[in-house]
Amino acid sequence: MPRQQSLIFITNRSSTGALAEQIARADAFSLEIAATISKGLELLVERHFDVIVLDVQPSAKSLLDCLRTIVHDDPEAKVIVAVPADDVPSAVQALHHGAADVLVHPLSSQSLRRAIRSALGTAVKQSARLGSRNNQTLLEDNVTIVGQTQVMREVEHLIAKAAPTDATVLICGESGTGKELVARAIHLQSNRRKAAFVVVDCSSLVENLFESELFGHVKGSFTGATVTKHGRFELADGGTIFLDEIGQISPNLQGKLLRVLQEREITKVGSNQVVRVDVRVIAATNTQLQVAAAQGKFRRELFYRLHVVPILLPPLRERRADIPLLASHFLEKYRLVRRKKVQEISAKAMDRLMNYDWPGNVRELEHVIERAVVLAEAPIISPRNLTYFSLEEPASEELPADGRLRTMEKMHIQRALERFGGHRAKTAEYLGIDRKTLRAKMVKYGLSD
Ligand SMILES: Nc1ncnc2c1ncn2[C@@H]1O[C@H](COP(=O)(O)OP(=O)(O)OP(=O)(O)O)[C@@H](O)[C@H]1O
Ligand SMILES: [Mg+2]
Repeated sequence: MPRQQSLIFITNRSSTGALAEQIARADAFSLEIAATISKGLELLVERHFDVIVLDVQPSAKSLLDCLRTIVHDDPEAKVIVAVPADDVPSAVQALHHGAADVLVHPLSSQSLRRAIRSALGTAVKQSARLGSRNNQTLLEDNVTIVGQTQVMREVEHLIAKAAPTDATVLICGESGTGKELVARAIHLQSNRRKAAFVVVDCSSLVENLFESELFGHVKGSFTGATVTKHGRFELADGGTIFLDEIGQISPNLQGKLLRVLQEREITKVGSNQVVRVDVRVIAATNTQLQVAAAQGKFRRELFYRLHVVPILLPPLRERRADIPLLASHFLEKYRLVRRKKVQEISAKAMDRLMNYDWPGNVRELEHVIERAVVLAEAPIISPRNLTYFSLEEPASEELPADGRLRTMEKMHIQRALERFGGHRAKTAEYLGIDRKTLRAKMVKYGLSD
């Protein structure tokens, strides 16, 4: 069984704490939240965490001191630092003091989640290089592509054909359709599998630091560049670089990237020495890059360079026949992770899964099944255990798009049922209604089996 990955958030912002909980739940990470730096450092002395997120306001100095201590004490941990949007100096300093990634406020669950997954990806890759078999297995476990529909069989076929070549691949699909999964599968089926798979999230990198992140910089090339740093292209040498959300990069950087793809050479910031890199490029986008290129919003030459082998991942609602397979796959995964004796999904529950539209695609389905496994009291998952929400949902303080009382009442009852593990007497007591009324409302809203 893969080891559960661990996160710690050192943060005194309640909004970040809420995001942390959401992400840990969605990705089945173990989570600690420390509200002060000293509490955080105490926990770090006690045990190792795979990823540490530092988001403390307002003192930049204590943030950097804390970062230095962590990097010194646990060089294997990946540290993600959050800074205010206008604080470029702190961002630069953080990177030079060993942060794996820097995010700017306001934090979104998506950018944070990506940074964490990307940091975990590097952590896994590094341990794999050091010969840890468990982590290698973990990496491989995570790339099982489930799907029997014609369209998914074609995707598998394309992966198998493209993987052994060095061709650039452009993966397109809505959020949560499995773009990163496909990228990892290509890497693992290629001759580069023993080298690094480096993820670059083009949407979350700070514009001024992007070049230094990708190509590296030499010591003294700008304020804060206290050491020479390798860029991600160099880290991926011999392996694969995954440029996620490629549609988000600025025209200036598009030009720079184009040059690298043409020449396979990079130049570090502040240096005029050209370094050859042997890197396979896989890019992903959830926007219509072709349209953007046609409209002049994305450089055409770059689009053509990337569009060598295009792989299109259709949304889950267009391949519903894969839902039962995917649901069983996730059931098996979370049954083990959560140590629950849940064996199957009832016909009624499956019916619901088949008829839902899945705006968050496979990721949302995974999430729903994980919750169902956690909530299930019997060996069979029933409709009552299914709650739908995508990570992109507005934060709870905001008013939802659908504010009808009926919808709100349904959601409230659903949440209360979840909170009490489906226990009707406790839920009714909590809601201040009698059990009969609760039962009637559950029937009315389709919340009973
Ligand atoms: N066909 C599939 N079989 C098994 N698991 C899948 C499949 N597709 C996606 N997943 C799982 O769903 C989750 C989301 O997939 P992934 O991160 O690859 O999506 P994405 O397209 O990169 O999303 P985003 O655009 O939001 O970054 C992952 O946990 C992944 O393992
Ligand atoms: Mg992705």
